[in-house]
Amino acid sequence: MGPEDPVGLVELERLAVGLAVGAGRLVRQERPDGLGVARTKSTDLDVVTVMDTRSEEHLRGRLAELRPHDGVLGEEGTGISGTSGLTWVLDPIDGTVNYLYDLPGYAVSVAVVEGDPTTPGAWRPLAGAVANPSTHEVFHARRGGGAWLSWFGTEADPGAGSGPTGKGGPVPLCVTDVPDLSQVLLATGFAYDREVRAGQAEVVADLLPRVRDIRRAGAAAVDLCHVAAGRVDAYYEAGCHVWDIAAGTLVVTEAGGVVTGLGRDEPPSEAMTVAGGASAHALVLDELKVLRGTSGRTTPSG
Ligand code: IPD
Repeated sequence: MGPEDPVGLVELERLAVGLAVGAGRLVRQERPDGLGVARTKSTDLDVVTVMDTRSEEHLRGRLAELRPHDGVLGEEGTGISGTSGLTWVLDPIDGTVNYLYDLPGYAVSVAVVEGDPTTPGAWRPLAGAVANPSTHEVFHARRGGGAWLSWFGTEADPGAGSGPTGKGGPVPLCVTDVPDLSQVLLATGFAYDREVRAGQAEVVADLLPRVRDIRRAGAAAVDLCHVAAGRVDAYYEAGCHVWDIAAGTLVVTEAGGVVTGLGRDEPPSEAMTVAGGASAHALVLDELKVLRGTSGRTTPSG
């Protein structure tokens, strides 16, 4: 905090990184052998493990110590209203199905937002971090500060904190510039509702022959960070909740990209999230507007 940073964005980013990395280490190191499904939510496919709950409890506890005046909104039920006007939006494990199967593409997503995170378009992320403990990567950003990738070690692999370059980062992130749909590597995700998936499959079937290829990594927060890092050119998904996208959205925009809903001026919401470099974003948005208009089964599951 100071005249050049009146809101304390540098400190908020540092906290977001520390929280996401701490919870990331927890879920990686304390993943039980024979991890199972603790309960299901919206459908039989929408699962929660014991570690989703533990990770959220851990984050909630840290925030109670560090930021007692801020609100907290978490995927697994935390809803604490604060007095500061800031709310921490938590996804304790994004990509829970990947985690359940011990596939690497899951992450802890932590964002601090101003406004009302329960209403699309009524919140703005100030700082955020997405930590993927299986790749030892943490993607992070603060408003106006650029988007960055750093590395962190775990108990099993402490040396991984120095990253592939021999340093822990941070390295700057930048989206791609791909002006031709046929060259767009496009990430997406699917809902937990089988009916909704049928409509999403129609959209993918139409797009697949016309783009470079499709990727389905299984975690919206990771997909968004991959857009920011130029590992894919664009991403779209219906059914994302604010905790899936709050941190990743900031990482993309700070990497020079665009994140919207199904219109150029619409905010991302459960109805649709579209992200990419400006050119790929515009191309994908135009396609989705047409395709979703022709399919009657693409309603998000919520
Ligand atoms: C989500 C689910 C969904 C995928 C999303 C993820 P979560 O993870 O895996 O199928 O398409 O991209 O965010 O929130 O259920 O752990």
